[in-house]
Amino acid sequence: MVGLEVEGKPLMRAYSIASANYEEDLEFFSIKVPNGPLTSRLQHLKEGDPILIGKRPSGTLIVDNLLRGKTLWLLSTGTGLAPFLSVIRDPSVYGRYERIVLTHTCRNVRELAYRDYLTQTLPQDEFLGEFVREKLIYYPSVTREDFANRGRITDLIANGKLFGDLGVEPLSVEHDRLMLCGSAQMLKDTRALLEAYGLQEGSQSSPGHYVVERAFAS
Ligand code: A2P
Repeated sequence: MVGLEVEGKPLMRAYSIASANYEEDLEFFSIKVPNGPLTSRLQHLKEGDPILIGKRPSGTLIVDNLLRGKTLWLLSTGTGLAPFLSVIRDPSVYGRYERIVLTHTCRNVRELAYRDYLTQTLPQDEFLGEFVREKLIYYPSVTREDFANRGRITDLIANGKLFGDLGVEPLSVEHDRLMLCGSAQMLKDTRALLEAYGLQEGSQSSPGHYVVERAFAS
């Protein structure tokens, strides 16, 4: 939970931590909601201003909630990218999977945040670069203007374009594991697709083929 004290009271919202679990600084990725009670204030924060951070993080996008597999798919829309920025900077994840595919779908190209970081900076990272170059595939797509990859992730899965573009087999119960983070409707539709493939949601008590986290808009 991240927030500010407003008129003497804490105003808190759930955010995903985008930084890696070993980093000293915490990084968050947020949209600015027009007239939003929190983000209209957060965006004007200056260095040194106080901010409230919850002490107990919680969430479901945990590799231990997944069965062992070969490919880890991280499917995100909008600010749903945030938790995956953390996952792809965790060296242990690269030890578990042969391949990691990060998809990020937005309405417009300019919303594809972290694109330069993912394509230029991270592959050259002193510590992670080798893993990233060997195993990470970044697949951005856009729905409302021209771009190399066009379409909702649900459509790209359903029509097989995603797998064709990457030259990989369609999803299988044996090899593929997924994490989803996006809007409620994106999660609902993607879940339905995955269930049609025979994939089942995992939890701490019962690891499965995929896990889900809602990206909070404000
Ligand atoms: P679209 O432009 O077709 O609505 P938003 O900014 O509304 O959160 O959307 C972020 C991205 O998620 C957009 O590219 C949007 O596509 C896509 N999206 C919205 N709803 C769904 C859904 N139900 N399933 C898959 N993708 C979705």
